Amino acid sequence: MAVEWKPLSYSLGVEVRGVDLSRPVTDEDFATLRRVLIERDGLMLLRGQSGMTREQHIAFSRRFGELDTHDAVPLDRDRTHPEVLLVDNLPRPEGQSYGKMIGHEWHSDLAPSLRPAGLSFLRAIRVPPVGGDTQFANMHAAFEALSPGMQALLRTLSAVFVRGRKGVTPEWEKENRRLNPPVAQPLVRVHPDTGREALYIGESARAFEGMTPSESRPLLDFLIRHATQPRFVYRHRWQSGDLLVWDNRCTIHLALGDYDPTEVRQMERTTVKGHPSGHLVSPEVAELATS
Ligand code: SIN
Repeated sequence: MAVEWKPLSYSLGVEVRGVDLSRPVTDEDFATLRRVLIERDGLMLLRGQSGMTREQHIAFSRRFGELDTHDAVPLDRDRTHPEVLLVDNLPRPEGQSYGKMIGHEWHSDLAPSLRPAGLSFLRAIRVPPVGGDTQFANMHAAFEALSPGMQALLRTLSAVFVRGRKGVTPEWEKENRRLNPPVAQPLVRVHPDTGREALYIGESARAFEGMTPSESRPLLDFLIRHATQPRFVYRHRWQSGDLLVWDNRCTIHLALGDYDPTEVRQMERTTVKGHPSGHLVSPEVAELATS
């Protein structure tokens, strides 16, 4: 079957048909997938992939680049396949279930690190009967819609990202802070494949580098509000067997958590590394940004 595609929403995304990831993907089809992913601003859906194994999920994503082994979130990765992040509400062997809290704020993957994610590949294994949706927002479109004056200002700023997670124990939070010290990232980044600029924001950005949270908050809040307007957003309603691929360098996303928590939501994610970005902030700047 020939590869076919159509837009997923006005703002971003493409749905591709005619690719079965449980079978070898030809170089020609792979080139088409890469191309339409870039053309549609970094979001691609492939439905009906229930036949794909975990190994095939890893192998397919590895064709796009080097995979992250999720050292920043060791409790959430699969023990035998560290390339696989478990995004689910199932009890962990440790007796704690953290995966269900992943992504419950607007973010791009691994932003609070020195090697933020390039692409993410999220595979839906079991989905609740209703809800459990994920929203995606287009950061190229959001940046390009700002005035030239605001764009120029944002190019001069960096934001301090602090990784946190709601609902975790104080011990986990301490370990989390050790593994993920605050990092400053430029507020605007240039996509390596297209040269286009994109907003680099997220709700774990606490302050601009060198400023306090209360000085920074109004502009940070404005940017999140601006960038997540309906005209820039696509809302994905999951079906089991969906594989959704997104480019963290030009999108942000939010897992809505809009489902009955007694129902199972089971997803697995692989993550292709992006380029090194940002820098660790000094203890004084970290103190200021979290004060
Ligand atoms: C994530 O942020 O990678 C997870 C998104 C989701 O669970 O929908």
